[in-house]
Amino acid sequence: MNIRTVWVIGMGTMGSEIGIVCANSGFDTIMVEVNAQQIEKGLKAINSVLQRLTKKKLINENDTRKILDRIKPTTEREEAFSNADLIIEATFEDMNLKKELFKSIDEACKNTAIIASNTSTLSITEIAAVTSRPDRCIGMHFLIPATLNPVVELVKGIKTSEETHRFASEFIKACKKSSVTSKDSPAFIINRLYVTLINEACLMLQENLATAEEIDFACQKGLGFPLGPFAASDSSGLDVVLDCVNTLHKRLGDKYRPSQLLVNLVNAGNLGRKTGRGVFKYAKK
Ligand SMILES: NC(=O)c1ccc[n+]([C@@H]2O[C@H](COP(=O)([O-])OP(=O)(O)OC[C@H]3O[C@@H](n4cnc5c(N)ncnc54)[C@H](O)[C@@H]3O)[C@@H](O)[C@H]2O)c1
Repeated sequence: MNIRTVWVIGMGTMGSEIGIVCANSGFDTIMVEVNAQQIEKGLKAINSVLQRLTKKKLINENDTRKILDRIKPTTEREEAFSNADLIIEATFEDMNLKKELFKSIDEACKNTAIIASNTSTLSITEIAAVTSRPDRCIGMHFLIPATLNPVVELVKGIKTSEETHRFASEFIKACKKSSVTSKDSPAFIINRLYVTLINEACLMLQENLATAEEIDFACQKGLGFPLGPFAASDSSGLDVVLDCVNTLHKRLGDKYRPSQLLVNLVNAGNLGRKTGRGVFKYAKK
């Protein structure tokens, strides 16, 4: 692998952290956003993540300076892509948007460039099909928070080549992370396990098998998970979890039917920490 620059599209929750990971691994990192306000918001997010990492003593002031020097935000996407070798797309989880972007990146960048998507559930095969290079497209699913999580899930579309997969694996190694590889299937490995666990926990609560606190405690202390399923889903957003369970249900069958409790919580607007109430109640900020 012989690249010095990485292009990241989107400076939201994931894009801003992916940008830090790339810059901290020594890559010049060009970050593409839709307008100046989004760039400003993204840079604020980047600065606050860097402060958190400094507080945890994972980086120092010198690292912060180097990371910020390597990050170059822009809104000129076609111009930016013309030199790109690796582009990581981290925009909204919207199939039409991702297809539109992949098509325009494909038209703007050189034949050898590799286009990756950070999608957590969508089909990389379907996204890649709008390009002239489905063999050079791959899923590169960084997990939240990307600066701390040691694993990246690589997703091979039906036409992803071995060479592209090898390149992506080497890139993830260069970012000091490990990769796991999944076939292109709804929610891949990690989210299929994660949302199925949450849905099962909701079924248990619906059956009054135990309290939410007991189920979380059992999972944390008995199984060694860092968070119980309810604390985790309240953080991710119950609406995000339900979208993912619905995708599994639609694509893989009845085994994945969402629990009525999960549906009710979302319909009631109890989406988790972001609304002050999910399975648990949170103090207003
Ligand atoms: N948030 C998570 O927990 C999480 C975890 C893993 C993967 N993902 C996946 O990562 C991707 C990004 O999610 P997120 O949570 O960071 O979203 P987000 O809403 O925080 O950010 C998306 C960003 O993309 C930008 N954007 C939209 N269209 C654009 C375009 N045409 N060009 C450039 N920028 C554009 C938006 O302005 C926004 O800043 C999604 O595919 C999501 O499924 C999310």
